[in-house]
Amino acid sequence: MWDYSEKVIDHYRNPRNVGKLDNADAVGEAGSLACGDSLKIYLKIDNGIVTDAKFQTFGCGSAVASSSILTEMIIGKSIEKVKKITNKDIADELGGLPQEKMHCSVMGYEALEDALKNYDNYTDLDDLRNDENKVKSGEQVICTCFNVTENQIWDAIKMNGLKTVEEVTDYTKAGGACGKCKNTIQDMINTYYKSDETALTPAQKVIKINNIIEKQISPELVKDGGDITLIDIDGNKVMVKLRGKCSGCKNSHLTLKAFVEATLKETVDKNIEVIEV
Ligand code: FES
Repeated sequence: MWDYSEKVIDHYRNPRNVGKLDNADAVGEAGSLACGDSLKIYLKIDNGIVTDAKFQTFGCGSAVASSSILTEMIIGKSIEKVKKITNKDIADELGGLPQEKMHCSVMGYEALEDALKNYDNYTDLDDLRNDENKVKSGEQVICTCFNVTENQIWDAIKMNGLKTVEEVTDYTKAGGACGKCKNTIQDMINTYYKSDETALTPAQKVIKINNIIEKQISPELVKDGGDITLIDIDGNKVMVKLRGKCSGCKNSHLTLKAFVEATLKETVDKNIEVIEV
């Protein structure tokens, strides 16, 4: 029996923003009915701000809850902020999801990403919407049982630090049926942890730095009455405003700046330089 947070149960029982937006400015979808989970998200965007969002989903309670909370997370936010939302943010906002249900948060992230990609060229999405087994052109499908592409698996591994095939299955469903794709997934994991694939793209790096500061560094500083504000990221240069001491940090021998830098070097990129502004 899985342990669900109160927030998951609340959003499952009382889902917000269910339905379709007839005049949506962007529509995105992820999953497919054939694979057991499907999500379509509709966005109304005005002057770079998401003014409304609705969703239609077919899936389990976690899929409903992830979709519901995602709409609440994006309404009122700028496109720039919405682009930084990850599947982990969705799961965190729900107070966590069981590991085996993390693929529901990934489905929310993928539908949102699809909508944002379509935003600029939003013209003829009906064809795409009606094709449950659509494969994005040029992408190689690794798991034919669940129609999971190579890029989706790379993204899940990179953004969540997945290290086992089982974890990839939890986050993407790939490998969860006949198992024929498991060797390929294992090869991808091996490649990622051995090669330059570990190098994040600039966008992924920004997301990861934001996440580490928000979820890992800031809570340590707040314990001491301190604070950190991310000002800018330029390549490996991370500009921050810092306040407080580091006596409560796990590495209490470090200065505040050195603590932040050491944490980012360890978790994101060993070449990161933190600059106080
Ligand atoms: S091909 Fe991936 S589980 Fe069947």
